[in-house]
Formats: sequence, C-alpha cells, structure tokens
Amino acid sequence: MRAPPKKPNSTRPLLLQNIGQLLTLRSTSGNSGPRRAGDLKQLGIIEDGAILCVGGKIVSVGDTREALRDSWIKKNRSQIVEIDCGGRVVLPGFVDSHTHPAFVSPRLVDFEERTAGATYEEIAEAGGGIRSSVEGVRASNKAQLAGKVLVALQEMMAHGTTTVEAKSGYGLSLDSELKSLEAIQLAAAQWPGTVVPTLLGAHVVPTDFKNQPQKYVDLICEQMIPQASKRKLARFVDVFCDRGAFSEQDTLKIFAAARKNGLAVRAHISQLARTPLAKLLAMNPVSLDHLDHVDETDVSQLAQSSTVATLVPGANYFLGLKHFPPARNLIDAGVAVALATDFNPGSSPIASMPFVLSLASTQMGMSPAEAISAATINAACALQIQEKKGSIEPGKDADIAIYKVRDYREISYWAASNRCELVLAGGMAVTSRQDESRR
Ligand code: NIG
Ligand code: FE
Repeated sequence: MRAPPKKPNSTRPLLLQNIGQLLTLRSTSGNSGPRRAGDLKQLGIIEDGAILCVGGKIVSVGDTREALRDSWIKKNRSQIVEIDCGGRVVLPGFVDSHTHPAFVSPRLVDFEERTAGATYEEIAEAGGGIRSSVEGVRASNKAQLAGKVLVALQEMMAHGTTTVEAKSGYGLSLDSELKSLEAIQLAAAQWPGTVVPTLLGAHVVPTDFKNQPQKYVDLICEQMIPQASKRKLARFVDVFCDRGAFSEQDTLKIFAAARKNGLAVRAHISQLARTPLAKLLAMNPVSLDHLDHVDETDVSQLAQSSTVATLVPGANYFLGLKHFPPARNLIDAGVAVALATDFNPGSSPIASMPFVLSLASTQMGMSPAEAISAATINAACALQIQEKKGSIEPGKDADIAIYKVRDYREISYWAASNRCELVLAGGMAVTSRQDESRR
C-alpha cells in the first residue's frame, strides 16, 4: 500500500482508491437512528471503492473508476493526496462507546486472585476492585493521569478506533473526579481522534463515605454534576447501578440531577444482578450497558425504547465468565445493540475493538456484519454523534480505518492479531503499522 506523507497538509483533498471492500454503513432505510434486527447486517459494501475527503470531511463515496472519471477530481488531481488501498478493506473508524481510561495502574493482584477462583465481587469486598484504583488516581496530578489516558487512546487507535467515550470514576471525590475529567480533556487535545467525556462519580461509594453513602450521592448530585456541567467537562453522567454499587433509587436521583444540569444519562446495569429496566428507561438513558441479566420483559421494553443496549463481552471474557449478555435475543427482539471494549483495569484491560467483535461472534452469536454495525453506527448513536460518526457518507467526519485483509470478516476472524494498517481521523493519516514509533 502506498502510504500518504506522515503529516499531510490537512487542507489538501484526500482520495482513497482501489478499496477491495468499502464498508460504508450507509443507511438503507433513510432513518438516522440505530440499526435494529435485519438492518444490522447491511454494511453497504462497495467493491473497488473510493472515498474523497476535503477539509476533514467525506465529500463523496463511490467506486474507483467513477472517481477517476470525475471532472473535479481530474482537474484537481495534482493537489490531491492519493492513497492506493491495494484491494484492502476500509470501514468507518470504530466508535468505542464505553471506556474507563482514567486510571494509573493495572490490577494484577485481582487478576491473579481470580485464577485461584475468587470472583469479581469477592475481590471487591476484600478490598480489591474499583476502590483499589482510587489511591493511584488521587495521588496523581492531572498531567500524569492525562499521560495514562493518552497511552490508552493511542493503543485503541492502533486497532482502528477513532472515537472514544472516556469515563472518570476512579477519583471518587469532587477534586479527583474533576481532575480525571480534566485529564481526559488534556489527553483528548493531544490525540487526533474524538473523545466524548462522561462523569462516573457514581462508580462505587468510596471508603471515606462508607458509613454515609447517601452523603456521597448528594455530593455527586449537588457538586460533581453541576461543576462538571458548568465547566463543560462531561457530556454524559453514568451510574454503576448494581449489587454492591448504587441502587435503582440512587440512580434515578443521579439521573434527575444530570438532566437538571443539562447532561444526558447512561448506566452500567444488570452486570452482576438483575435490575428491572422500566423505571430507568422512563428517564430516556442514551444507553444501558452490560445487561448480562435481563429477562423477557426487559428485552421487550428495551426494544420499544430509543435506548441503545451496549454490550461489553470483553468484561465477561476477562472475568472468566461462562455467561455472556443475550445478544441474539436482544437483536432478534429489535433492540438497538452496540459493542464497546469497557477498557478498564479491573474487568476489561482490552483496547482492541476487533477483539471485542471476535468475542461478539464466538461467544454471543453475532455475525461479523452485525458486530461491525454495532461497533460503528450503533455505537455512534449510543453517544448521540451519529450525524458525524459511524458511517462513510458525504458530510460525515473523515474517520476511516484501513485493514490489511481482503474480506471484512477477517477483522474479527484473526482474533488476537492486529490487521489495522492505517487510520485517518478528520482526514489526517494518524497511525499506521509502518509507524513503529507510536507503538
Ligand atoms: O464496567 N462495572 C463497573 N465498572 C467496570 C469495572 C471497573 C473496574 O473493575 O475497575 C465495568 O466492568
Ligand atoms: Fe464499564
């Protein structure tokens, strides 16, 4: 493949041509919402495809012969930076709509204890788990934490991810949650992709509030949310609503505070034990995530709603669970399903979306095509950015991943390999396998 210059002039138009399979993910129904049921299989593939990008946006999408005959392209050819994709597969950059990158150290003790049979909840009760990541974050300054976030973002991009939702959640005090969001903002400014920040002050009750958990909920509602909103440090508020974390009642209270402060809401739900979804769905969360323990009522209520169900099978895999979220039931019932890594130090130190797609197929019965839709356009819907991200269509951001494969199914087939060869974010070539200095 002929690589573009390392720092192409962003003002120069860019033409990708000779694309073996161009997965456009364009809408066939004309509706801009998430894909459901059979529509998840529609990837809008163009063979021998071409994409023209100008000013960081996609301006036209078609086949290579058409593109080379286009009068504007012919006239401006000398100005255009061309990338010959040599028959490779090209798709929209992945949208990783659920990650927790604002932590300092891996949790190797938890990891090792699980090999001796301890469960995630037992480890958390014994002093490991989320609370054991707090000290490191509280002791770090913003720049140190931003450095950690940036390394995670770069790792994600090396696998083809161009948009990342990034949560706070290991500070668990007003200062350290705001510091985590500032670190995310600082890392985002140094990363060519797009970051969507989320306040997850409601991850668990910190040890210092152990005997007065309601005071911690009040701190979230009265201080963290208003300040994060006022300083534009977060676009969403998330809650870990589950056994050992926050109750349904706490979650509704936190959601109400978020809405009052102009922030949209999402939740970690039914990962460890079932919470009926009806009351939460009434608050119109943009996404409900995990959903390991849902019943038929939950599934049909989700299907009737506009809420996206974000599945994170990397967490089930890494915790060594046999049980995975019921993706097939959800999709067949018409739920809008998305996929994300849940990158975090406890349950999913996984930065690779292709690996998550592989798990979706091997462990949850999703076809390779369904998994790609779930990880691009539906994940964009889970962040309310589908007008700009998640498909290769005129007017959208030129966020594009090129894989060294001939068939899109290989992206998840080569389970633990990285076949991502080149990534464009906003029309700029930002990472490639030839560029070893970034790895
Ligand atoms: O999504 N479930 C809650 N939060 C994370 C785990 C975070 C951690 O263990 O550090 C999750 O799996
Ligand atoms: Fe999570």
